Amino acid sequence: MQPLRIGLLGVGTVGGGTVKLLQNNAHEITRRLGRELIITHAASRNLERTRTICGPDTNITDNVFDVVTAPDVDVVVELIGGSTIAKDAVIQAIKNGKHIVTANKKLLAEYGNEIFRLASEHNVMVMYEAAVAGGIPIIKALREGLAANHIESIAGIINGTSNFILSEMRANGSTFPEALAQAQALGYAEADPTFDIEGHDAGHKLSIISALAFGTPINFSQCYLEGISQLQSLDICYAEELGYRIKLLGITRKTPEGIELRVHPTLIPESRLLAKVEGVMNAVSVQADMIGQTLYYGAGAGAGPTASAVMADIMDVTRLQNAEASYRVPYLAFQSSSLQNISI
Ligand code: HSE
Repeated sequence: MQPLRIGLLGVGTVGGGTVKLLQNNAHEITRRLGRELIITHAASRNLERTRTICGPDTNITDNVFDVVTAPDVDVVVELIGGSTIAKDAVIQAIKNGKHIVTANKKLLAEYGNEIFRLASEHNVMVMYEAAVAGGIPIIKALREGLAANHIESIAGIINGTSNFILSEMRANGSTFPEALAQAQALGYAEADPTFDIEGHDAGHKLSIISALAFGTPINFSQCYLEGISQLQSLDICYAEELGYRIKLLGITRKTPEGIELRVHPTLIPESRLLAKVEGVMNAVSVQADMIGQTLYYGAGAGAGPTASAVMADIMDVTRLQNAEASYRVPYLAFQSSSLQNISI
């Protein structure tokens, strides 16, 4: 069978990690899929570095539109971030019949409804496991493992940078700027770290999983956002004295009035599992009617964990590429009839 042909947009921390993952684990991936994956095209601003990372068999360009229009690309993997060029590239790719794998929570939080509707019209899949909670397969859990449940609520630590900062301040007495600088050096933080510390990144992710869990359109504009930038070491010390940890939580629940969406620092009793989540780790707790509570834990940021989620999505696209249309239904949209009325 012909290899699945990947067009990569962005070869930074996550893009580079994805190429490395494919190079290191190609044998395992091919064995599991029964099919080879190849990166035929890659777009990046740094051509020389990209050539070194990807090797001689990949066509390198600094123009994302070369990749999304290339005939020898089956799936476009968007790892640019942001919602300007990434949005135009993803829309063009969908119109050209390419499947999409993206780690871009901002793009989906802001334009996901339009993107999923367009993908549905063009019968292509949009996969986004890496957009929420890094390497944790929370999208798969909500979409597949818990598919027969009514989801009641979700509460999660879904911004690794904030959790890293709070952990460093508590355990090592670091100042807020010191801990943030360290998170940036480790490649956890967003290009604009205010997205991490003011709760926007967690809000983006929360609005995506909320829509998936409750079958609604994505509603980021209605999400209450409060970050950690106003917290001081003293707050963390007092909380500890009282037997609590402060965590930035994203919470969504179904109420009689509608879907609640909020991100804010929360006092959690230190005996609770969520209180014990330290460093860049993420954890998502889901309450559902049949299974009760489940908890998902793992690295929420960084090259390896995020590349792991990106590659799992690429592998799903490979399996489903030639599947009957009905198998693809869960991957086309959030299955919300209200999406039909949204246009791009
Ligand atoms: N800046 C994000 C975080 C990266 O810290 O969680 C992963 O989405």
